[in-house]
Amino acid sequence: MAKQIVIEKTKIGDHPSTYRFTFDEDGIQKSGFVIFFDNAYYVYRNECQHLPVELDWQENEFLDDENNFIVCATHGAIYEPSTGHCVNGPCQGSFLKKIEFIEDLDKIVINI
Ligand code: FES
Repeated sequence: MAKQIVIEKTKIGDHPSTYRFTFDEDGIQKSGFVIFFDNAYYVYRNECQHLPVELDWQENEFLDDENNFIVCATHGAIYEPSTGHCVNGPCQGSFLKKIEFIEDLDKIVINI
């Protein structure tokens, strides 16, 4: 049965910012994150496309120093925030897995 995760937009913050969340999938704890970037929200699974590891180097630290890209802490793959496209690194050309969501006036609703 699908689980609903509701995240208030006030918890996410202004451009660029991220909000990490966890969910249970077949008894295994997984994580994802919302990124607010250039006035739009995107939601991805927190999983690099090179190896099945989480991206953030510290909890909820997903962005590079210039806050322009999502970066994998393990080998430095670089992903575009708006598409999840890996533009540099060992998984270049692949995409982060999107998580479907509904944007409400003051919240992001994820059904997972
Ligand atoms: S595990 Fe992410 S770049 Fe290698």
